[in-house]
Amino acid sequence: MKQNIYDDPQFFKNYITLRESGVTYNDFIEQPAIKSMIPDLRGKTVLDLGCGDGHFSKYCVENGAQKVIGVDISENMIERANKINSDQRIEFMRLPMEDLTFAAGQTFDVIISSLAIHYIRDYSALIQNMYEMLANNGEFIFSIEHPIVTARKGSGHWVKDEEGTRQHWALDHYQEEGLREHDWFVDGVVVYHRTISTLINTLIENGFALNRILEPQSTPAGIEKMPKLINETRRPSFLVLKATIKP
Ligand SMILES: C[S@@+](CC[C@H](N)C(=O)[O-])C[C@H]1O[C@@H](n2cnc3c(N)ncnc32)[C@H](O)[C@@H]1O
Repeated sequence: MKQNIYDDPQFFKNYITLRESGVTYNDFIEQPAIKSMIPDLRGKTVLDLGCGDGHFSKYCVENGAQKVIGVDISENMIERANKINSDQRIEFMRLPMEDLTFAAGQTFDVIISSLAIHYIRDYSALIQNMYEMLANNGEFIFSIEHPIVTARKGSGHWVKDEEGTRQHWALDHYQEEGLREHDWFVDGVVVYHRTISTLINTLIENGFALNRILEPQSTPAGIEKMPKLINETRRPSFLVLKATIKP
C-alpha cells in the first residue's frame, strides 16, 4: 500500500501554509540547487515526478519547456495544481509514480523530481522504469532527503544541551535501509532510507551515468531570513543527483 500523506487534511493544510510562507528549506536550499542542475529547457519535454501543486512544472514551461507532464499521488495536490496552473503546455496526472506507463517509445528529454523519491519503497524498480522513459540524450535530475537525515530511527536527531543549544547531529542505523517513520505535521510519516552507495549504484546498474551530485547549503538570503540554516554546514538536509544515459 502506497502512502498518500498529502491527502491527510491536517498534513496538507500545514504543508501548504509552510510552502506559501516562502521561508522554507525548499526556497533557500533545495530549489536553488535543483534549478542549478536543470539544462536549457527550450523545446524540451519534461516529466515531473511527485509534482505537488505544480510550481516546478510551471517553472519548466516558463523556462521554455514545450510540454510538461506532472504526476502526483495526491488528489489534493493535483486539484490545487490544476487550479493554479492554466498553461496548456502542462498536463497533470493523478497516480503513483511507480505505476506510470507510457506508450512504447514515448520518452522525455528531462525527468525531474523534487523531494518525492524518498517516499518510494521500490527505488530500483522506479529507476529501471525511468531509464525506459528518458530520451537517449536526456537528463534525470532529482532531490531527496539526505541519507544522513533519513538514517536514524525516530524523530528529533539534534542532540541539545540543557539550554536547547544544538550540540551535534545524531547519526545511527545508517546501513539499515528501509522504512522510517518521522513525525512531521502528523505522526508516522513514512520515508525510505537508502545509503548513498545504493542511491548511486542503482542508477549505474540500470544504465545511467552519474553526472553531478550536490549536498547544497543555504543561499546567503536564506541565512539572513532563517538564521538556523547555518546548521546546514554541520549536516546536509538534501541530496541532489543528476544522471544521464550511459553512452
Ligand atoms: C515534498 S512534496 C514536493 C512537491 C513538489 N515536487 C515540490 O517541489 O513542491 C512531495 C510530493 O510527492 C508526492 N508523492 C509522494 N509519494 C508519491 C508517489 N508514490 N507517487 C507520486 N507522487 C508522490 C506527494 O503527494 C507530494 O506532492
